[in-house]
Amino acid sequence: MTDPARFAELAEEIAREAGAMLLDKRPARPEVVQTKSSPTDVVTALDRTAEDLIRSRIRAARPHDAILGEEHGTTGDGAVRWIVDPIDGTVNFLYGLPEWSVSIAVEVDGQVVAAVVNVVPRGEVFTASLGNGAWLDGERLHCNTGVPLSQALIGTGFGYQPGRRAVQAEVLAHVLPRVRDVRRGGSCAADLCSVAAGRLDGFYERGPQYWDYAAGGLIATEAGAVIGGLHGKPHSPEMTICAAPGLFEELHDLLAPLNPERDA
Ligand code: IPD
Ligand code: CA
Ligand code: CA
Ligand code: CA
Repeated sequence: MTDPARFAELAEEIAREAGAMLLDKRPARPEVVQTKSSPTDVVTALDRTAEDLIRSRIRAARPHDAILGEEHGTTGDGAVRWIVDPIDGTVNFLYGLPEWSVSIAVEVDGQVVAAVVNVVPRGEVFTASLGNGAWLDGERLHCNTGVPLSQALIGTGFGYQPGRRAVQAEVLAHVLPRVRDVRRGGSCAADLCSVAAGRLDGFYERGPQYWDYAAGGLIATEAGAVIGGLHGKPHSPEMTICAAPGLFEELHDLLAPLNPERDA
C-alpha cells in the first residue's frame, strides 16, 4: 500500500481508537510519572499507554513499518515511518483543559504523505493526505488569506527545553504589540490545525519536536498555508512558522531580526 489516502484512513482509525481510550481512562486528576527536558516537561501514565496502543495497532496492520513516537523513540526502519505524538498537550490533559490531541503522521521516503490530528475533548478529527486537501469531519479546510500582520491572530507555543523561557518572553513582547492578539493553545498539532481551519491566521514556535508538527504541518499546507523556518530553512525544532503566503513572509520578517533561534 502506498496510496496516501489509505494511510490517512488507517491513521484516522488508530487515532480515533486512542482518543476514545484516553477519554475513557483519564482520571479526574492524572498524575505526573516523569519529567523530561525540564521540570515543566511532564509525562503521565496515559501518554505511554496511548503510545503503546497506537504502536500495537500500527504493528498489527503494517508489521514492517518504522515508528517514531515521543515516549518510546524509534523502532524499525524502512521507507514507511509513522510519527506519533500520543498526547500532544500533556499539560492541558493534566489540568483538564480541552485542548489536547492524538497526532499521527505517515512518512514515505522522508516525506509526510498522510496525517491525522484528533482533538479529543472537542471531538474534532482533522485529516489530510498529500495532494488531497485537508479535512475536518468531511468538510474541506482553507486557511485564511489576505490578512495583514497587524490584524492577524497568531498562535504560539513555548517549548519546554531549559533556558528558553526568557528568549520566548522577549520574542513574545516584540510580537504582541504588532498583531491583533496572541493565543497559546498548548497543543502544537491542534494549533496547526487551527491555522488550517482559519481559527488562527498564523503560528510560530521555537522548540517543537518533529512529532509535534509532522501531522499538523501537512494538514496546514494541504489547507493552503506555508510552513517553514527562518531564512529559507525548512521548519524544524529550531523554528516553525506557519501561515498563508504573504502573512508567512510578514511573520518571518518580524521574527528573523530577533534571532529567536539563539540560546537563552
Ligand atoms: C508540547 C505541545 C506544546 C508545545 C511544546 C510541545 P507535549 O507537546 O505541543 O503546545 O508548545 O513545544 O512539547 O509535550 O504536550 O506533547
Ligand atoms: Ca511531551
Ligand atoms: Ca507534543
Ligand atoms: Ca506528547
